[in-house]
Amino acid sequence: MKRFVLTAVAAIVMSTAAYADAIKVGVVGPFSGPFALQGKNFKAGIDAYMAINGNKVGDNTVEVIYRDLPAADPAKSKALAQELVVKEKVQYLAGFYFTPDAMAVTPILQQANTPLVIMNAATSAIVTKSPLVVRTSFTTWQTSTPIAKVAHDAGVGKVISVVSDYGPGVDAENAFKAAFEKEGGQVVEAIRMPLSTNDFSPIMQRIKDSGAQGVFAFLPSGPTTLGFVKAYNENGLKAAGIKFFAPGDLTQESDLPALGDAALGIQTTFHYAVSHDSPENKAFVEAAAKAIGNKAELSFPAVGAYDGMHVIYKMIEATGGKQDAAKAVEAVKGLTWVSPRGPVLIDPESRHITQNIYLREVTKADDGTYYNKEVQTFEKQGDPGLKAAK
Ligand code: PHB
Repeated sequence: MKRFVLTAVAAIVMSTAAYADAIKVGVVGPFSGPFALQGKNFKAGIDAYMAINGNKVGDNTVEVIYRDLPAADPAKSKALAQELVVKEKVQYLAGFYFTPDAMAVTPILQQANTPLVIMNAATSAIVTKSPLVVRTSFTTWQTSTPIAKVAHDAGVGKVISVVSDYGPGVDAENAFKAAFEKEGGQVVEAIRMPLSTNDFSPIMQRIKDSGAQGVFAFLPSGPTTLGFVKAYNENGLKAAGIKFFAPGDLTQESDLPALGDAALGIQTTFHYAVSHDSPENKAFVEAAAKAIGNKAELSFPAVGAYDGMHVIYKMIEATGGKQDAAKAVEAVKGLTWVSPRGPVLIDPESRHITQNIYLREVTKADDGTYYNKEVQTFEKQGDPGLKAAK
């Protein structure tokens, strides 16, 4: 009996110790609503990282707590982050699909002593809002600059630009325009659509009427991008020979089965393709496909989340599990590793990720499925948006 009691007490003490050591990571993303698949990809990337690397860093157990933010809603984003910090006592904040949601959280980081690891939101300026922000995704400046050269090299001189009217859209418009004009091209018209736009027929008419040889487009990935590319095809723009240029948000892999031949041949520039040929990506795709349950649903937010967890694990290692946001961020400045997307670096000055940007073309595989085939690499791209902002 005595031995039983001692064993029971020891078990309680041990489990309390393990619990006390748990380091909580609060992840905010769209886990329900129209963008739920994007949030599901955050979770798949995190699950894949923890399946491959375990849930412990030294003696500390890592625990991820999720909060659902279905749409761009800065007030709710801030409230969720505050609740995670105050009630759940998370040491790290991470995730954030939409720019306004990430922006809303930057003012609370210093006081909360919490780094923010952005796994998607792609407006350049976010990292300038707090020294505690680190980003493992991309910016639309980074992904929209190289496609301007591609458009010029394709013999296109006049382009109409169409973007969603908020941070990453305005950045994409500016990035494309700056790079395209440098090549000698001309942006004949720049349309900014409300984020809520879902009937694209009037826009397609304006594109036709503009006389442009090509269209440059950015919308946040989800039902938005699927609807836009469908409309481009259904309104006869593709048939009329108006070329389509965009960052890879417009042809994310999870949209391709629904787009079918409508997307065939579309060229985009982006930091990640599920088809990327490397041992690191093979291991990642295997684990992430298992986590999401259907490989066809895998898309880029998964790799932003996977690498975001890598950064958080390095932060936990450097701080020995103690809450010290400044030390944690300092430790990952200049960090390099081979991501499933290719070689990457956390730029020590901007805390944004430097990475290859690939030109990809939507291609039909022998088995009838569609994929983004990498055809060219723009190596070690930093964020031109930060220089432009200065
Ligand atoms: C953003 O809001 O920053 C955002 C969302 C989805 C994307 C790109 C950027 O595909």
